[in-house]
Amino acid sequence: MEKLVIQGGVKLKGKIRIGGAKNAAVAIIPAAILSDDVCTIDNLPDINDVKQLKRILENMNAMVHQDHYSKMVIDTRGIDSYEALGEYPRSMRASYYFLGAMLGRFGRAAVSLPGGCNIGVRPIDQHIKGFEALGAKVSIQHGVVRAEADELKGAPIFLDVVSVGATINIMLAATRAKGVTTIENAAKEPHVVDVANFLNAMGADVKGAGTDVIRINGVEHMHGCEYMVIPDQIEAGTYMLAAAATNGDVIIENIIPKHLESISAKLVEMGAEVKEYDDSIQVIGKGRLKNANIKTQPYPGFPTDLQQPMTVLLSIADGTSTVTESIWENRFLHVDELKRMGANIKVEGRMAVIQGIDKLYGTEVKATDLRAGAAMVIAGLVGEGETHVTNLIHIDRGYEGLEEKLCSLGARIKRVTR
Ligand code: EPU
Repeated sequence: MEKLVIQGGVKLKGKIRIGGAKNAAVAIIPAAILSDDVCTIDNLPDINDVKQLKRILENMNAMVHQDHYSKMVIDTRGIDSYEALGEYPRSMRASYYFLGAMLGRFGRAAVSLPGGCNIGVRPIDQHIKGFEALGAKVSIQHGVVRAEADELKGAPIFLDVVSVGATINIMLAATRAKGVTTIENAAKEPHVVDVANFLNAMGADVKGAGTDVIRINGVEHMHGCEYMVIPDQIEAGTYMLAAAATNGDVIIENIIPKHLESISAKLVEMGAEVKEYDDSIQVIGKGRLKNANIKTQPYPGFPTDLQQPMTVLLSIADGTSTVTESIWENRFLHVDELKRMGANIKVEGRMAVIQGIDKLYGTEVKATDLRAGAAMVIAGLVGEGETHVTNLIHIDRGYEGLEEKLCSLGARIKRVTR
């Protein structure tokens, strides 16, 4: 068991390079199955979720080669199993993308019900609705989702909720269906667009990704390709928030500033300075931050995945703030941990009311999920004294070298065995 020991009170300063987007990578790797050829995927983040996906592919007898963590060569010609079952798929959310990818290529798939962060109920009814509309029979028994179709046929699909996972999964299956599929009320997140671009690089015909209507013209064959994953919007946002929280001065490089507009706007509203360049952003602290109200929304709104780190900033801002979580019903587990550090936060249903205090105080806190883990680390950076963050399994699933990157900006963090 490891934990992070953080000495608070350092202003972050310097430059940091952002890795590939986790939530794009975890869809693109399974999507490679749609081509019975070789795909080279570059700019992958060095995170445990990517390692797990590699193991799942290998268990299916795909050949996967990595000279360096960032570049994966996937040869799916030898796949002779249509199942992703057991411990690896159960440990993460994105394993559900094997359903869409295998259904598209082989007309059948069996995948263990996915796990991932404990942030709400996380149903997959919209994924299933989409597969069924394409003509698949779907069943869930003994914790395994099975989907089968003699032939997938394109269809119009209207999502009842804006879902990143369902949008991508339906897109995967529909690329090899006969005819045209439209996904209405589709998610518009940057990683949805990135997956569509990857599919098109393999010869698919996907149009409209990034708007709320995606049109997929099914193709018979998809070929191999070389593809570069986009930079991680959420990792970049996490460092922007860490820079502002510590009153620092950090240049965040290798990003797409447009993806971060909701965060930049909020930080400016709170009194930080944000300078945008072509592929980087500089965040400069200008003293104590002002209070603000946050409501999480699908892209381009404020992302739920940065709500927890943002709560740390609001807990030491001047005045009363509110955070309304409209995507996940259980994404406030970090609040109890922040309260242990002195934060004054009341949660009522989907809303947290935060009375800003002068400072947080270091103590032992737990990473209750991935982004809560990042929140705890930021809290440790600004807290007085020493903070110990436990339960690092969540952080390691989704953040590439979090403590190394922060230490390169002057943070004092050590990973120790408990
Ligand atoms: N929903 C349904 N039915 C479905 C699917 C979703 O009701 O079939 C609901 C969910 O319960 C939720 C909302 O729709 O209330 C949005 O869920 P979505 O499907 O968009 O979430 P997801 O695809 O499971 C991805 C990211 C999450 C991120 C959300 C929202 C991956 C692997 N995960 O989850 O990322 O919070 O989109 O942007 O891409 C994270 O990175 O920390 C993380 C949790």
